Amino acid sequence: MTPSERTRVRVRVPAKVNVQLAVGAARPDGFHDLANVFLAVGLYDEITVTPADTLRITCEGPDAGQVPLDATNLAARAALALARRHGIDPHVHIHIAKDIPVAGGMAGGSADGAGALLACDALWSLNSSRDELLAICAELGSDVPFSLIGGAALGTGRGEQLTPLDTDGAFPWVFAVADGGLSTPTVFREFDRLTAHAPVPPPAADPALLDALRTGDATALAATLSNDLQPAALSLRPSLADTLTAGRAAGALAALVSGSGPTTAFLAKSPEAADEVAEALLASGTCRTARVATSPAEGATVVEHTGQGRN
Ligand code: C5P
Repeated sequence: MTPSERTRVRVRVPAKVNVQLAVGAARPDGFHDLANVFLAVGLYDEITVTPADTLRITCEGPDAGQVPLDATNLAARAALALARRHGIDPHVHIHIAKDIPVAGGMAGGSADGAGALLACDALWSLNSSRDELLAICAELGSDVPFSLIGGAALGTGRGEQLTPLDTDGAFPWVFAVADGGLSTPTVFREFDRLTAHAPVPPPAADPALLDALRTGDATALAATLSNDLQPAALSLRPSLADTLTAGRAAGALAALVSGSGPTTAFLAKSPEAADEVAEALLASGTCRTARVATSPAEGATVVEHTGQGRN
């Protein structure tokens, strides 16, 4: 093994759920202004980067077959953007160990973009500031900055302008993973179609929801959860209504579509209750799988850096 083959950086990066997703009217650039309250959840992808002769991506995990391994992958785009900025070759092997549902509305692709950016920055010893990394994240996609910082945050603009939020305690969630993904642009277009008959009000964060996060009150949070993209996701995938009903019947405090879907999210009153909801969802036959996870979770984090003087 050569020294460069021993050089390796591994980054862990969380999924997200939107506890409030308020959507405004389409802007001239095609994006929508949002009041987007993100919570990072403890389901993780791991991104490992090693020096290579060319930029290449590999992926492992149950959904790996659905992940693009070309330059459209946000992890590749992150490496290219960082290398271009520093005038260096983007020659790196990016390996994605994928545990976040693919095209599920949990920012799995964004997580890989943020994770690859942080990993390449460490591999290439660039020591970029957090603000420099966040600027690249915002170029890559609206949800990518949040994947870098994690925790809880309000995203405004198209979701990329972040204000970190205080939270207390840990919220137990269940995520029901549907068969097949939903395309985010398609869901936004369906939102436009469904709201075309009346003016869409400007999006605003709900103070009661922010209070519930601050105090760690799951019952209060459950009462304030909202997602303006939910009617669009349900219109495109009507079977999701059965999943929401099954989770509520199993005792979830609240149920909603996660982001643009089709993953559905269920807030539980305790970790034990979350396990029961997950079991009931699986037994209902209305989803492919059900995952239990806690939020908030830490943002993208270097968990291993070996080789060339770093151990
Ligand atoms: O920013 P990102 O590339 O993740 O967005 C994917 C697509 O989702 C956009 O091309 C747009 O169609 C839609 N979108 C939107 N408004 C936002 C964020 C995303 O319309 N604030």
